[in-house]
Amino acid sequence: MADILNHLANNLPRRKFDAVIIGAGGAGMRCSLQLAEAGYNVAVLSKVFPTRSHTVAAQGGIGASLGNMSEDNWYWHMFDTVKGSDYLGDQDAIEFMCREAPKVVYELEHFGMPFDRNPDGTIYQRPFGGHTANFGEKPVQRACAAADRTGHALLHTLYQRNVRARTQFFVEWMALDILRNADGDCVGVIALEMETGEVMILEAKVTVFATGGAGRIWAASTNAFINTGDGMGIAARAGIPLEDMEFWQFHPTGVAGAGVLITEGVRGEGGILLNKHGERFMERYAPTLKDLAPRDFVSRCMDQEIKEGRGAGPDGDYVLLKLDHLGAETIMKRLPSIREIAIKFSNVDPIKDPIPVVPTIHYQMGGIPTNFHGQVVVPKNGNSNSVVSGLYAIGECACVSVHGANRLGTNSLLDLIVFGRAAGNHIIASRFKDEGHKRLPDNTGDATLARLARLDGSTSGENTQEIANDIRRSMQAHCGVFRTADLLKEGVSQIMELDKRSLDVHIKDKSKVFNTARVEALELANLTETAKATIVSAEARKESRGAHAHRDFPERDDVQWIKHSLWYSEGNRLDYKSVNLKPLTVDSFEPKVRTF
Ligand code: FUM
Repeated sequence: MADILNHLANNLPRRKFDAVIIGAGGAGMRCSLQLAEAGYNVAVLSKVFPTRSHTVAAQGGIGASLGNMSEDNWYWHMFDTVKGSDYLGDQDAIEFMCREAPKVVYELEHFGMPFDRNPDGTIYQRPFGGHTANFGEKPVQRACAAADRTGHALLHTLYQRNVRARTQFFVEWMALDILRNADGDCVGVIALEMETGEVMILEAKVTVFATGGAGRIWAASTNAFINTGDGMGIAARAGIPLEDMEFWQFHPTGVAGAGVLITEGVRGEGGILLNKHGERFMERYAPTLKDLAPRDFVSRCMDQEIKEGRGAGPDGDYVLLKLDHLGAETIMKRLPSIREIAIKFSNVDPIKDPIPVVPTIHYQMGGIPTNFHGQVVVPKNGNSNSVVSGLYAIGECACVSVHGANRLGTNSLLDLIVFGRAAGNHIIASRFKDEGHKRLPDNTGDATLARLARLDGSTSGENTQEIANDIRRSMQAHCGVFRTADLLKEGVSQIMELDKRSLDVHIKDKSKVFNTARVEALELANLTETAKATIVSAEARKESRGAHAHRDFPERDDVQWIKHSLWYSEGNRLDYKSVNLKPLTVDSFEPKVRTF
């Protein structure tokens, strides 16, 4: 068998690039642009046409302390981000991101991104949850917005610049595995062309994960169907640990029953949350920031209102987002897509009626461990880190970690652009282009081809979508807004059982050409790795911090638990590493109780 595989692998078509980027969302295309403009021969692989990447769904804005609406500065932004992270974010990376923010936004403006404008021509900025002036004193307008389609505007801008810079896009290509040599260096990618079923080796001097999140491990999600955790699955199979996977953000306002995102920008523009009595309940929980407290906090308050019988609707299982008082003109100008979404998915026109909303899975704070240059770093001995040569990760699939235990809205688009650009700059400064390609290992592609052969050869076994749906149901039931020891324990055993079942899936259609069942089966392997990492890391964390709210351990425990988790697929084991509480140039923000 090994000989046959070797033979096949040796005959696979091969291409060579200076850089291969997996994923064409905001992070991938910002990185590819930096590299292509510096003369790199860059390939970007994407399962979908680049402008359909999930960044397109980002609505409300990109955070930067431009100070266009009132006084603001990057240090206040840094404070909010550290506090928002519930003190689990690495403060060197957070300082870097918040300092870079105005520069990268002005760069986007100069690339032609169509931001909304103030009467004086400056970029329009709106308030967003957890963003404040003067260290928590009052909300500040920091979200630079293109109506409620900021991600859409961003992706189109970056795609056009990339076309001009001659980035080569491999559209409807799925990365299957990265290739590492005996020294552990990354030397390229093995990938599948989804239309033809062709498998190809792409040799690269440098490989960049920019695959986005894995929100599709949950039943109710704001995420696109393509978000199956491919980067995390590939990394886990390649022996790279996944960091802080217990921290998943529930966005307070997903359309009830549909999961579609209703931007926090609605509350930024003045929308308010009401319970069934018409009470603006956030005033009780967060007297200063009210509806604009950070997402973990607002989601928990909503969950509590519903559980205590104050939810609206026939079953009392949602709350109401009221925005009619903003007036039709503001809604049509600032929130046109939100009106469309509300009409289509909940059959209400928000110019007249409130939108039914529930907390819905939106974002993973954890991912592939990196430093703030985007280099993938793994622990070596004890607490010392070692860089995986030739491998970077950026955007939602990476854990740099700027979001810690809870991300602030608008910091995701910022993360994509700051670290996409930073990784590009670091690759250029490291002179990868001047090096030759490293030799591929002798067993190149064996494991991947064996996986494909097993899939294509299976004559019995289970249906992919049934297992995927069981994973989603289990994650939803056992790892929600509030978690308990019993639920998490049961969740671990269910997901481990589903992991076993996932090794024996049967695809009825054996054709390799444009076979979505085959692609879904390959995605299932990535969903499974991500779900295991999440539930195992969550079960082990015996405290409440940020988005990890544990009923049996309701307090944050700064003595035992200011540390990042690292989950390894091999042996299904956990390790931990310390949080970097030391910024680059300024004083640390010491952990404090979070009130709003
Ligand atoms: O609410 C939103 O518009 C989402 C933004 C974000 O996740 O940063």
